Amino acid sequence: MTQDRSSNQMWGGRFASGPDAIMEAINASIGFDKRLARQDIEGSRAHAAMLGATGILTDSDAEAIREGLLTVLSEIEGGTFEFSTALEDIHMNVENRLRELIGEAAGRLHTARSRNDQVAVDFRLWVRDQLDALDGALTALMRAYVAQAEAGADMVMPGFTHLQTAQPVTWGHHMLAYVEMFARDRSRVRDARARMNESPLGAAALAGTSFPIDRHMTAQALGFDRPAANSLDAVSDRDFALEFLSLASICATHLSRFAEELVIWSSAQFRFVALSDRFSTGSSIMPQKKNPDAAELVRAKVGRINGALISLLTVMKGLPLTYSKDMQEDKEQVFDAADSLMLALAAMEGMVRDMAPRADNLRAAAGSGFSTATDLADWLVRELGLPFREAHHVTGTLVKLAEDKNCDLPDLTLEEMRAVNQGINAGVFEVLGVDNSVASRASYGGTSPAGVRAQVARWKEDLA
Ligand code: ARG
Repeated sequence: MTQDRSSNQMWGGRFASGPDAIMEAINASIGFDKRLARQDIEGSRAHAAMLGATGILTDSDAEAIREGLLTVLSEIEGGTFEFSTALEDIHMNVENRLRELIGEAAGRLHTARSRNDQVAVDFRLWVRDQLDALDGALTALMRAYVAQAEAGADMVMPGFTHLQTAQPVTWGHHMLAYVEMFARDRSRVRDARARMNESPLGAAALAGTSFPIDRHMTAQALGFDRPAANSLDAVSDRDFALEFLSLASICATHLSRFAEELVIWSSAQFRFVALSDRFSTGSSIMPQKKNPDAAELVRAKVGRINGALISLLTVMKGLPLTYSKDMQEDKEQVFDAADSLMLALAAMEGMVRDMAPRADNLRAAAGSGFSTATDLADWLVRELGLPFREAHHVTGTLVKLAEDKNCDLPDLTLEEMRAVNQGINAGVFEVLGVDNSVASRASYGGTSPAGVRAQVARWKEDLA
């Protein structure tokens, strides 16, 4: 090294002194971007192979670089690598170690490349791996819901609007509603993956390079569909991270909704489900307590994931082309959101697999609160030919009567009903039961057990 050791070895040529300690603290990203080590080395190995194949480097230099990088990777994965804050980031930490290992040839790796396209490729590869992991986790969660749906295809429970009893539905139908939600999340993952799968490598600092590189070769080696077509865009784009955070936020929102239902359903007031001991905790003072902590934490995780999305949107807003150091603030948000989401998905999968619906309580709740009032109104339309509005009015009168008597609709006598509308006959009692109610909702997408079974079959095929 001919350079002054106190200035940066990688870029210190024009610097007389090294950075202030505070400058180093605000500038360094190695504390978190070490998570990109594997992707960084993968990208560098592809770059070196291309430099060799195009004759920009000799084959022996290219090979020495590629081999040396494998050694660096094994040191990092083996935990023996010493990360240096003075070397700022993962890119320079890896390159510096490579120089120690193979000498001068290491300095040729950065030919026709910049840290700007390097970090863009590393981060894309990392996010792409996360999207694939997310795809798998969503599939596993969907399978857990489908298993619940199959077991409870004809288990009746109250369906709610405004958290007020609305109409009886089936447990299976409720479970499959979440399968639809997580299926949309999974399709957003796949859309985002397809859109982001372009290689920024070879955009160099921002303008491309005068070396005769082969960007198609590196794109292919790294599993990208094609090289990004505009070098300015390639180094300044973080849409892939924003899309990841957007779809993560929507997915976390879905998780929070079921988490909330679990908290409500497992309460002593509802007693709709029993959560397993594996995903609950006790109280240090109240011996009777079994708290749905995992559900509560899943419900809460959406806060930090939404926060990450807003944070990165705000960082990117108004940034002029192309790279600005602001963009170094992209990684911690994405790392934290990804970790939080994967943990929440795993916890939810466990809870869904383990939870036990309490069929008797669900059934009792399904029949209370005049939940079959719509069935009664429909019957008046179908059997007596009343206009729906009039049937609605008659039913309302009967609900009021039952409420005054403090009973449910099936408990009214035929005489009491006929006093409200003469045409009513004993056939009406058939539609006032919850089983008939759910069975009758056989319209496509409705809650009937037959419909649920058909959808379960469709999902099992999809998820096989
Ligand atoms: N650590 C930097 C980041 O995460 C790498 C890119 C640095 N580029 C530069 N021109 N200083 O964004």
